[in-house]
Amino acid sequence: MSDRKLLILFGTETGNAEDLAFDAGNLSGNFDLEAEVKGMDEVDLDDITSCNRLMIVCSTWGEGDQPDNAQDLFDEVSESEDGCMDSVSFAVLALGDTAFEMFCQSGKEWDQIIEQKGGTRVNDRIDCDTDYEDEAEEWIEATLQIMKNV
Ligand SMILES: Cc1cc2nc3c(=O)[nH]c(=O)nc-3n(C[C@H](O)[C@H](O)[C@H](O)COP(=O)(O)O)c2cc1C
Repeated sequence: MSDRKLLILFGTETGNAEDLAFDAGNLSGNFDLEAEVKGMDEVDLDDITSCNRLMIVCSTWGEGDQPDNAQDLFDEVSESEDGCMDSVSFAVLALGDTAFEMFCQSGKEWDQIIEQKGGTRVNDRIDCDTDYEDEAEEWIEATLQIMKNV
């Protein structure tokens, strides 16, 4: 793929997903990628369908709910046409807490809906519990390495 762009979207309530998204953005240059890091309430459907590489970092709130800044975009994506993400290579990092019954539900929903709309999953989703720093960083680096070659 000729362009080097990577869109990194975060869905968050208290900033954990945002911090990880910016960590991923800062590391992207090491993988020859030009990252744009955005909150899910700062983009719309077109931004996603027109990107070739997408990383989602999203926490879960309430009882398996999307974070506030993620719900509208999730609804928009859910209502979009099948096939509109045909050109999108994606991977999802889900943040949650195994103390909750609906562990990492929002991330699971993003992983499923983007594939359903035609996206290609380039790395398996990671579902992170509360002590996530090391495994999240490992996943981010592995995913950036894959995205580099997409
Ligand atoms: C009120 C509340 C509700 C939560 N609900 C869930 C849940 O249903 N499932 C889950 O896996 N984690 C749940 N969590 C855990 C958060 O997803 C986790 O703390 C995450 O790291 C928060 O990331 P954020 O700061 O990006 O929002 C909940 C946390 C709180 C405080």
